[in-house]
Amino acid sequence: MSVADGANLTRGEMMSLIVRLTIVTAVGFFSMKWIMSQMDPMSKAKKKAKERAESQLRKLGKANSISLSVDTKQLTDYEMMIASHLIDPQDIPVSWEHIAGLDSVIQELKETVILPIRRKELFEDSRLTQAPKGVLLHGPPGCGKTMIAKATARESGTCFINLDVSLLTDKWYGESQKLTAAVFSLAVKIQPCIIFIDEIDSFLRARTSQDHEATAMMKAQFMSLWDGLITDPSCTVIVMGATNRPQDLDRAILRRMPATFHIGLPNEQQRTQVLKLILDKEPTAEDVDAVKLSKLTEGFSGSDLHELCRTASLYRVRDYSREHPNASHQSVPEEDEFHDALRPITHDDLITAFKRMRMSKVQTGGLSNLSKLELD
Ligand SMILES: Nc1ncnc2c1ncn2[C@@H]1O[C@H](COP(=O)(O)OP(=O)(O)O)[C@@H](O)[C@H]1O
Ligand SMILES: [Mg+2]
Repeated sequence: MSVADGANLTRGEMMSLIVRLTIVTAVGFFSMKWIMSQMDPMSKAKKKAKERAESQLRKLGKANSISLSVDTKQLTDYEMMIASHLIDPQDIPVSWEHIAGLDSVIQELKETVILPIRRKELFEDSRLTQAPKGVLLHGPPGCGKTMIAKATARESGTCFINLDVSLLTDKWYGESQKLTAAVFSLAVKIQPCIIFIDEIDSFLRARTSQDHEATAMMKAQFMSLWDGLITDPSCTVIVMGATNRPQDLDRAILRRMPATFHIGLPNEQQRTQVLKLILDKEPTAEDVDAVKLSKLTEGFSGSDLHELCRTASLYRVRDYSREHPNASHQSVPEEDEFHDALRPITHDDLITAFKRMRMSKVQTGGLSNLSKLELD
């Protein structure tokens, strides 16, 4: 019966059957595709990263300092995710002028890292004078390591990947390795490039047998990819690390960072320079004496000095709000008027701030070996 019915199908019925079948197949195909994309846990992140990476690469391509000849279509999804964290050297707010008292380190960096990158042709005949593939900045916290790394990228005009380790760790097995590989493959594509890892000891610390399998694999992969860079003399990719615990680093990592720079606590002369730099653009009274203050601040880091000046400058705000208890309720005065209303920072402010900071440093153990320091 049914066979006979089938045989009796008219041409029109046949056509409508085909159309219906096509529609069902198409709907099935697209809904399957949608479900698959929804099931991919990385899909949203990938899409966002792609948009950001595209705009970032376009911007970098336009910048005169870099001749970026990368087509975004040539990059894989993973490379795109890393590229979304690229920083344009022109956007970095730190330059050499913002760093005081570290002239010898800066000079050495200029000679060993920046010149070989900027004037590659000068060094082509020698393998020995090429830029090192690994640079380690180490020393106590708050002495300017991160600042120096940023300024190096800015001054050398290279792309800068600020590698946040959380970017590489992923809850899905295998994704971390793909991202790690992408860091290096992207860096080679956009070279010259600096891969900066701040607090590198947290990521590449000495390997132990208790390491999680995924972490151990990531470290090993990182090192072998890095070796790939080292053996290729024509590639200008530098891994730059900063740490205040160099003794925790894996020995194999230390070997790959032949250029090491110690950035220690500033001495008296350096502290004077840092204080002068910080107070230079601030409204200060005549009696402020950076030399005297630097004599007192033995054991203070650059960031401590910055904090000291900040605290001192808050005292004048405090005085102002005491004199004008209703100031916060009044309408906001003109900017110039506001500046004039606040008195300048005095030497006494700085000394009061220093005493306060020294006390808290002694209490927290930051100045334990210098606790006998006396005020004159
Ligand atoms: N040599 C320096 N010149 C000027 N400012 C400094 C110097 N060293 C440290 N600082 C101040 O300390 C802050 C922290 O410096 P940073 O480079 O982040 O230290 P770290 O060595 O811990 O990476 C800076 O933002 C800056 O204000
Ligand atoms: Mg730092």
